[in-house]
Amino acid sequence: MKFDWEHLEILPDSKVARAFSPTNIALAKYWGKRDLSLNLPQNSSLSVTLDDLGSFTTVEFNREFTEDSIFLDGKIKIDGSFIKKARLVLNLLRSRSSSAGGSQNDVVLPVFARIQTRNNFPTGAGLASSASGLSALALAGCSALGLDISKEELSAISRQGSGSACRSFFGGFVQWNRGETPDGSDSIAESIAGVGHWPLGVFVAIVEEKEKMNPSTDAMELTRMSSPYFSSWVEFAEKNVKAIREAVMEKDFSKLAVLSEENCLKMHASAQASSPPLLFWEAQTVALMKKVWDMRNRGFKVFFTIDAGPNVVIFCNDIRVGEIKNELLSISGIRVLESSIGDGAKVLDA
Ligand code: PMV
Repeated sequence: MKFDWEHLEILPDSKVARAFSPTNIALAKYWGKRDLSLNLPQNSSLSVTLDDLGSFTTVEFNREFTEDSIFLDGKIKIDGSFIKKARLVLNLLRSRSSSAGGSQNDVVLPVFARIQTRNNFPTGAGLASSASGLSALALAGCSALGLDISKEELSAISRQGSGSACRSFFGGFVQWNRGETPDGSDSIAESIAGVGHWPLGVFVAIVEEKEKMNPSTDAMELTRMSSPYFSSWVEFAEKNVKAIREAVMEKDFSKLAVLSEENCLKMHASAQASSPPLLFWEAQTVALMKKVWDMRNRGFKVFFTIDAGPNVVIFCNDIRVGEIKNELLSISGIRVLESSIGDGAKVLDA
């Protein structure tokens, strides 16, 4: 059987598995690394896992492959940060495979992989496509190699590719703890409340479909090295994540709205103060923020957040979903996707 994101036939003697992993949207952002090579964060973060927006990924290992290759929507990717991150995750899985006995399920190492993947939302536009892409890749790769690795360990493996990927393994509201140890063993993600805890509505307002100019690692490092506001961001972020967690547990929407927007705007302010400055927003981004504030003033239960790109994610706790969508669509030139809170990454077959 060929899945619709697979443009190339799977070779008959391949070890293959497929996974879907949803993207996750941080209410309390991860912005800044305490260890660059292990991808350990300066501050804890808290996100919401989306239900249906994410990455479908096939990982195929075969002795005939002479290198790792990645096909996104049927087109080979030859550059970009995703390839480097994907190789890192594959190497971590391969090293687990060899330490588990040199060969498992007849896979002799080293064996290269061919990855075919598709995102059902814009790639690299600041909507955490690296989170869904790398978590799907880690899960499918692990399953294809027949490795016995827990979700928690896979989360830590994918974190080394992309920090936010570690949160996509879990459903509902997820906290990724900063941790203190140099090896990152206590920097783990965990679900703090499951899907059913608080079924908020989610809209993704797409301002731009194209890939962003600044990969998040470069942008975070630039902020850390050059922004005079970086240290105050880190200090704020650690306190704010605790307050956001409380608001989630208490299901206090008004509190969550204020705290999450404050977190988003402080993260962006620290990035904007870098030199050279990092401004991820477009005119419609600002128009959407103002629209959300205007709606809140008129009694709608809505708030926004924005990752490292121009697109805006709107959360709502309001039955007037159609009205909210129409209000958002009054901003010209945007597209709105509807989503909800969902479970984490899953294997589609093995
Ligand atoms: O995981 P990365 O390296 O793609 O960085 C994610 C950064 C933000 O999306 C802006 C914040 C977050 O916590 O997801």
